[in-house]
Amino acid sequence: MTPLPQRPRLGFFVSHRGSNMRAIVSACQTGALAADPALLISNNRSSAALSWAAENGLPHVHLSPKSSGSEESLDQAHLDKLQEAGADLIILAGYMRKIGPKVLSAFSNRILNIHPALLPKYGGQGMYGHHVHEAVVANRESESGVTVHLVDGEYDTGPIVAQATVPVLPADTPDDVAARVLVQEHLFFSETLIRIVSGEIDLDALG
Ligand code: GRF
Repeated sequence: MTPLPQRPRLGFFVSHRGSNMRAIVSACQTGALAADPALLISNNRSSAALSWAAENGLPHVHLSPKSSGSEESLDQAHLDKLQEAGADLIILAGYMRKIGPKVLSAFSNRILNIHPALLPKYGGQGMYGHHVHEAVVANRESESGVTVHLVDGEYDTGPIVAQATVPVLPADTPDDVAARVLVQEHLFFSETLIRIVSGEIDLDALG
């Protein structure tokens, strides 16, 4: 892969709320993260992430298998939009679908996902959102956390880039854990991106 530019352009994929995307955009705006938000792609026409992008001047597009006609055309449409936007790094932040083979190959070692647990525990198909935190509490874990990992063709299986832990207290409900993890996510995704952009983390050494 070509090295990341000094100031990479970020392409986001988000399905729903988009709070992690907003935290990263904010880190770009404050100057903490030397990167430029370039595009939001969402499969969900009524997502809060798309509304926020529209209100805040972030280029955005709704693309789904239905609107594109097939999974293959959707993959091509994703690739076209990302290339038009000049994206260098792709950020999956609550994107509920798999990324297609064309985008995976064009952006090899350049696609990151955030997962609200310490992978490889509590990952894979069906392990998303509240299901993750329910399982963590049901198993009486004493800690959970955040994983940023490279994306491959499966759910939550690519090489781990960085992890941060949060405590799970005996009286915690899944909502308590979710809230604690989300606070950590908002800090940790940007911190990890800062380390990637500075060259401290070399994605090509992981993938
Ligand atoms: C986050 O918990 C993230 O770890 C998971 O999906 C959630 C997205 O939340 N992949 P938001 O859309 O960023 O608010």
